[in-house]
Amino acid sequence: MSTRLTARSKLARNPAPPVIDYEGSQYRTDFWEGQGRQYEDAAERLALQELLPAQGRRIVELGAGYGRLADLYLGYEQIVLFDYSRTLLQEAAAQRGDDPRFVFVAGNLYDLALATGAMDTVVMVRVMHHLADVPRALTQIRRVMHRESAAVLEYANKRNLKALARWALRRQSWSPLDTKPVEFVELNYDFHPAWMWSRLEEANLRVQRQLAVSHFRAGFLKQALPAHTLAHLDRRLFAVGGRYPLAPSVFVQATAPEAGASVLADSEPADITALLRCPVCKTDNVLVRHADDQLACSECETRFARRDGVWDLKEPLE
Ligand SMILES: C[S@@+](CC[C@H](N)C(=O)[O-])C[C@H]1O[C@@H](n2cnc3c(N)ncnc32)[C@H](O)[C@@H]1O
Ligand SMILES: [Zn+2]
Repeated sequence: MSTRLTARSKLARNPAPPVIDYEGSQYRTDFWEGQGRQYEDAAERLALQELLPAQGRRIVELGAGYGRLADLYLGYEQIVLFDYSRTLLQEAAAQRGDDPRFVFVAGNLYDLALATGAMDTVVMVRVMHHLADVPRALTQIRRVMHRESAAVLEYANKRNLKALARWALRRQSWSPLDTKPVEFVELNYDFHPAWMWSRLEEANLRVQRQLAVSHFRAGFLKQALPAHTLAHLDRRLFAVGGRYPLAPSVFVQATAPEAGASVLADSEPADITALLRCPVCKTDNVLVRHADDQLACSECETRFARRDGVWDLKEPLE
């Protein structure tokens, strides 16, 4: 009981911004499968194929949902799918749980439960647009990187052609040229490329490449051409469009050249206690495995459980 109170009061002292709740959502079938978004999916995969180092030791996808993109990470020795929604991760675990390379972690990326310098590659797609506090998220992303890591981060671009046209026709109140983020629906934001670039710089993340993606996100085009063809046409515009993005989605590849060395170089990829950090006392290397399905923090004594294949670092055990 006292452990629980300690854990909760520590979490309360550094409250995270509001988080969009996908718990129990049917994201796979409500948004992707059967919803006419094969083009977007194909284009995002092509962008990731261009920007992701194809192989490495450890990769994490933040806000991985049900694992839509998980097959792109199979060149890695350890693949962490991290999300706030336990139910979406349970879906991912039901599909990928038999592969020992996968680790499923429920948590809040604002208090990222991954060890400092632990990741070779960090991916985040279709998540930035839900973040009320981008600088806090970028600080966490930078913290888990080492000096040879790459982060591949996608965000929704407010300065896109459709928004520009709507604004010119006075069918939209906000200006796509204004650099401030726009919250068009609660916890749904579009960002200006210049604003995002500044936040990345402030977080000590150095942009190496920038791609503009999904130029052809329009019903009539998607009906006229097969998704695969449209995505390959889009690919031809990725790099040139990335110089002054006007597409609705932007992918950046960033490095953290001033970060420390990789901390996990000598540990076994299978050792998840070296990979994780306690989200309550925010200390690396203090989680100890108890039995098969529990972790306990040797610093603050908080305990966490694995259920249905998902490590729950969002809610400590009672
Ligand atoms: C639109 S879905 C994208 C899922 C996946 N990246 C994809 O592209 O298929 C957004 C995901 O981000 C997760 N998310 C949002 N805010 C988060 C946070 N603060 N910490 C962890 N996950 C978060 C949600 O739970 C949800 O699964
Ligand atoms: Zn702890």
